[in-house]
Amino acid sequence: MTVRKAVIPAAGFGTRFLPATKAVPKEMLPIVDKPTIQYIAEEAIKAGITELLIVTSRGKEALMNHFDKAFELEAVLERDGKEEMLKAVREVSDKIDVHFIRQQEQKGLGHAVLYAKSFVAGEPFAVMLGDDVVVSEKPCIGQLIEQYEKYGSTILGVQKVGMEHVSKYGIVDAHSVGERVYKLQGMVEKPKMEEAPSDMAVLGRYIITPAVFDCLEKTPKGAGGEIQLTDALVMLAETEDIYAYDFEGKRYDIGNKQGFLQATVDFALSRPDLRSDFMKFLKQTVKNL
Ligand code: G1P
Repeated sequence: MTVRKAVIPAAGFGTRFLPATKAVPKEMLPIVDKPTIQYIAEEAIKAGITELLIVTSRGKEALMNHFDKAFELEAVLERDGKEEMLKAVREVSDKIDVHFIRQQEQKGLGHAVLYAKSFVAGEPFAVMLGDDVVVSEKPCIGQLIEQYEKYGSTILGVQKVGMEHVSKYGIVDAHSVGERVYKLQGMVEKPKMEEAPSDMAVLGRYIITPAVFDCLEKTPKGAGGEIQLTDALVMLAETEDIYAYDFEGKRYDIGNKQGFLQATVDFALSRPDLRSDFMKFLKQTVKNL
């Protein structure tokens, strides 16, 4: 069965970006001129995903508006012959069906994914975390879908992060079974450096079989007092094989300010309309330091 559906958990408060996130969902903060969540949606579209479920919460109405048609705005842009802007406005809403569900209480990533059970309806599905933006030739989630098609099992997107960073991530214990492919033996959420089985971290991209929902329903609170997707996957590994795939691409952790700034600079430099002037500015700024 091919992977057609993706889930983006987007219910968090985004406290690391306060006060910006007091009234604006963190997923709507722009990198250059696009809200971060649109980069994730575009990655999904490029990988052939046709249905998206965004798990939101109170105060996140801007997300719905962003993925909706904007008739008045589009009519004005059309009237004024602003083709490029019209294209930008329609970019995503025309290409993918976006569904929303509200998480009533924020009890962790596992709890948020459980909200996708009826949307997923027994199919393998993608989970794409909005704090992880990946730039790659082949969309990151598409790379995992390719592996899913080969193995027919849950695939976790991983990269080495260095032992000093393991306590921020789900860390896998896995052995190599092919080029870039590992078979999972265990996994632990946010381990201390001394307790980490490796420095291979799950970086916000997963293809998961629907059997995970039975596990999620039984998963008790874990790290940070939250229901962890990592713990449900460990349970799933008791009955199904799980693989990790060391995906190709540069991943930005835009959930923290440093990562967000780095993404902003790199994305601006990769834009033909901005690159030349922005580079001049950066060079001058560095010179003046
Ligand atoms: C979540 C997951 C963690 C994963 C990380 C990737 O943690 O729980 O396993 O490695 O995303 O960014 P969070 O960053 O939401 O605390």
